Amino acid sequence: MAALALLLLATASVTQAHFGIEYPPMRANTLGSSRNSSYSQWLQPCAGVPGNLTDRPITPWPLSGGSLKLDLHHPWTYIFINLGLGSDVSNFNYTLTNPFWNETGNGTLCVPKLALPADLPVTDGSQASLQVVTVGDDGNALYNCADIVFSANATALEGNACANSTGLSVVPVVTAANAPANGTNGTAKTGTGAVNGVNAAALSSVMALAMVFALGMSL
Ligand SMILES: *[C@@H]1O[C@H](CO)[C@@H](O)[C@H](O)[C@H]1NC(C)=O
Ligand SMILES: *[C@@H]1O[C@H](CO)[C@@H](O)[C@H](O)[C@H]1NC(C)=O
Ligand SMILES: *[C@@H]1O[C@H](CO)[C@@H](O)[C@H](O)[C@H]1NC(C)=O
Ligand SMILES: *[C@@H]1O[C@H](CO)[C@@H](O)[C@H](O)[C@H]1NC(C)=O
Ligand SMILES: *[C@@H]1O[C@H](CO)[C@@H](O)[C@H](O)[C@H]1NC(C)=O
Ligand SMILES: *[C@@H]1O[C@H](CO)[C@@H](O)[C@H](O)[C@H]1NC(C)=O
Ligand SMILES: *[C@@H]1O[C@H](CO)[C@@H](O)[C@H](O)[C@H]1NC(C)=O
Ligand SMILES: *[C@@H]1O[C@H](CO)[C@@H](O)[C@H](O)[C@H]1NC(C)=O
Ligand SMILES: *[C@@H]1O[C@H](CO)[C@@H](O)[C@H](O)[C@H]1NC(C)=O
Repeated sequence: MAALALLLLATASVTQAHFGIEYPPMRANTLGSSRNSSYSQWLQPCAGVPGNLTDRPITPWPLSGGSLKLDLHHPWTYIFINLGLGSDVSNFNYTLTNPFWNETGNGTLCVPKLALPADLPVTDGSQASLQVVTVGDDGNALYNCADIVFSANATALEGNACANSTGLSVVPVVTAANAPANGTNGTAKTGTGAVNGVNAAALSSVMALAMVFALGMSL
């Protein structure tokens, strides 16, 4: 009985340590014991879920950017959101989080409309995949993907369908690696000075993260 309790506890904490993409629905369930056991969020680029999986949800998304709703379980985490084009994506070469985010608090993070890169070559019917990477203080990364099709008539989530949990907040992490060039009109100053309330001492340790997880590169 004690052993069972311990096992359940261990399973629960493993599940706790992972995250879900609630919208657009993730490619496959990568959470908990009911997932396909070959899927693990430790695996890049998409938790071991193949990009050509049959019967995966492909959610219509507005051409100017759509909603993203995450279920987060950590006290805080860095978040990178990348996008790749095509119906079986292996190259997530567009970043939607430049600068990337430092998210604090657990629960639901819902962004009604994620901005897209100006040069994203998509039209009505273009297929794509979103890759969400969460990175802890130790640099360990968790991966999840969701598949979308850009659609002229798709709509974003509104109202109660897209709300943030109380106490949850996001701070963009501007580092020397992703700061705007000197003299441009960005929010950042280059170097390791504090920007947007970000802890200056922690900045240098996350500078490498910006290079590694933006654009879906692997370690
Ligand atoms: C589990 O995932 C693997 C890889 O996608 C697939 O080959 C296998 O059929 C899946 N098993 C089940 C029960 O869905
Ligand atoms: C998916 O891709 C893998 C390798 O990339 C291939 O072996 C497999 O046959 C493909 N499955 C489908 C359903 O196309
Ligand atoms: C991203 O990769 C796709 C192919 O997967 C390519 O068509 C596109 O030009 C690339 N874009 C950039 C900005 O590298
Ligand atoms: C957030 O974490 C606290 C403490 O672990 C827990 O009690 C609470 O249920 C969690 N809330 C959500 C929305 O996950
Ligand atoms: C939206 O457009 C697609 C084609 O791009 C079409 O298949 C679909 O039926 C349309 N949906 C609605 C609700 O109009
Ligand atoms: C949730 O928080 C994020 C990050 O601060 C913000 O971009 C988004 O607009 C918020 N969502 C809602 C529904 O207010
Ligand atoms: C940015 O510009 C200022 C003023 O022109 C200059 O003093 C500073 O050294 C520059 N910083 C970098 C990193 O180039
Ligand atoms: C920066 O933006 C402000 C307003 O947002 C503007 O007044 C200022 O001229 C801009 N500076 C440069 C160098 O573009
Ligand atoms: C991100 O937020 C956490 C907790 O809120 C904090 O401990 C950490 O220093 C922050 N990271 C940066 C780079 O500021």
